[in-house]
Amino acid sequence: MRTVSLDPPNVQEVAIDTVVPHLLRATQHAALACQPWIGRGDANAADQAAVSALRQAFAQLPGTATVVIGEGEKDDAPMLYRGEVVGLGGAPAVDLAIDPLENTKACARDTDGAITVVAAAPSGTLWGSGEAWYMDKLVVGPAARDVIDISRPVEENLAVIATATGKAVHELRTVVLDKARHVELISRIRATGAAVSLIPDGDVAGALEVLAPDGRADALMGVGGAPEGVITACAVRVLGGGMQARLAPQSDVERDRLIDAGHSPGAPMTLEDIVTTDQCCMVVTSVTWGSLQRHPLRVPGGWRTRSFVASPLHPRLVVDAVHTG
Ligand code: FBP
Repeated sequence: MRTVSLDPPNVQEVAIDTVVPHLLRATQHAALACQPWIGRGDANAADQAAVSALRQAFAQLPGTATVVIGEGEKDDAPMLYRGEVVGLGGAPAVDLAIDPLENTKACARDTDGAITVVAAAPSGTLWGSGEAWYMDKLVVGPAARDVIDISRPVEENLAVIATATGKAVHELRTVVLDKARHVELISRIRATGAAVSLIPDGDVAGALEVLAPDGRADALMGVGGAPEGVITACAVRVLGGGMQARLAPQSDVERDRLIDAGHSPGAPMTLEDIVTTDQCCMVVTSVTWGSLQRHPLRVPGGWRTRSFVASPLHPRLVVDAVHTG
């Protein structure tokens, strides 16, 4: 008789993976709670629905979870607040980085790209700051993870990404948020011959276009939300990609606040600075359709959701679930 031996997962991997099914349930719950708000033009109500659903699901989370990133401060939106402790108590102790409704406009307008997303890591391993609203990000896939340097000019980064991925520069595709602050960045990327995929919002999903094996892009560049950056970093860690960042305040008030809190705007941050361990996870469920996830869909008596899990035990798990009743 032939036997198949599987390497036993290490203890730490099991620890963070124990919360994954609960995070999945939470994001599915939040995505469904947003459905009545899709296309209603009320981003705040949709966000509030997602927050309430997450908070309700987190009450059943095994262990003690501390929210270290809870989006909301920047946009004065409903939020799970930073420092809020959720869960049933006891072990494991984890940090949560949460974006209850990422790309709220897409939800309000019924356009592609709204997701609900949660990242988790052992307590004390996630960088978190309420003072940081914006972050400059450079995200690449595994092949280019060791060659990027956010403090170098964009042209140099594209050149080394091309070499590392075995492509010509003109074959590269870079995802950039379509914001006024990126006019120069976009024209410099295009001047190298590389293509730019402009997304109106939603740079967590934009980063997944880079990290997913079937993703269309080679890099994500530019300034987006700092909370979204921390969530992205967890996915980068699990999926073996590369990421560097720097705090990029978009106003004097934000800059002063960062400096007062002891941060150094503009100083490069490595992936390890943002999340210090590979034993982290990210769980995302689609709220509206997206290029990676063509869901949710109505089914008889309920809804079908599509989620993506990146965790040590399940680095690329796609979860198709039907919710009835
Ligand atoms: P929301 O979840 O608040 O809708 O954020 C959408 C988003 O596009 C993020 O993906 C991105 O990181 C951030 O906003 C950029 O912020 P801004 O729109 O203020 O430039």
